[in-house]
Amino acid sequence: MTARGGPCIVTISSGKGGVGKTTVAVNLSLCLSLAGKRVLLIDGDLGLANVDVVLGLNVRHTIRETVQEGRDLKDTLMRIAPGFSVLPASSGVPEMTRLSSQDQELLLSSLEGVAEDFDYVLVDTAAGIGESVLWFNNWVNKHCIIFSPDPTSMTDAYALIKVLTTRYDKKNFYLIVNQVESVKEGKEIFLNMESVLTRFLGITPKFLGSIPRDNAVIRGVRSQQPFLQKEPDSRAARALKQLSRGFVEELTAV
Ligand SMILES: Nc1ncnc2c1ncn2[C@@H]1O[C@H](COP(=O)(O)OP(=O)(O)O)[C@@H](O)[C@H]1O
Ligand SMILES: [Mg+2]
Repeated sequence: MTARGGPCIVTISSGKGGVGKTTVAVNLSLCLSLAGKRVLLIDGDLGLANVDVVLGLNVRHTIRETVQEGRDLKDTLMRIAPGFSVLPASSGVPEMTRLSSQDQELLLSSLEGVAEDFDYVLVDTAAGIGESVLWFNNWVNKHCIIFSPDPTSMTDAYALIKVLTTRYDKKNFYLIVNQVESVKEGKEIFLNMESVLTRFLGITPKFLGSIPRDNAVIRGVRSQQPFLQKEPDSRAARALKQLSRGFVEELTAV
């Protein structure tokens, strides 16, 4: 599909903030690029950008300039590694979180133009059910939802999926359980969420895997380097590599 039918575009979203969207999106993008895929990571947290911080980037241009000044999005692309590019967003610009529908359309069509050159396009969105989260998710048909074993993160993930299912008729959800104590816990948490989603929303999510709570992730964020690169043998990095293989299999199959 990725070679023939255009890029595979997927959002990375969550109900609750701080569950690991940006960290997973950055490391997953890097992992996919190391496997030979051409990957674009869009910072979809348009008002409070984080991708650049996690990667320690020196950003010159952002998506804001395309929306507000008409700058060509191709000039904003930053090449991080072979096959891995990033579109950085602005931070502390609240109006970017409330784009008019005209600006949303303009931005999405610019993004579609840039996306063509990639196999996978990941959109790291803001948390919750705010406007930008909804229109980014409405743009795509595949949604990675991240949550942790924390019950509030699970109920918020359910609420997000409910909105996307009932109001936008979305069906393809790929779940990632982050910050687990064990593989067993990750699987149990997924099964729990799956049964609720099937029972109340009539959907069958796919399980992409879990990532353990691991200090290597925290050290990576603090040093502004992907943990996959900094500590490739850590438990989190090993889990991420496995998750990345499942990601390719599951998302290419649809
Ligand atoms: N698997 C993990 N193990 C340990 N800490 C983690 C893990 N995933 C995320 N974190 C911590 O959570 C923080 C928030 O993660 P982040 O990716 O910024 O979340 P989000 O983008 O969902 O708001 C990170 O800075 C890191 O310290
Ligand atoms: Mg984030």
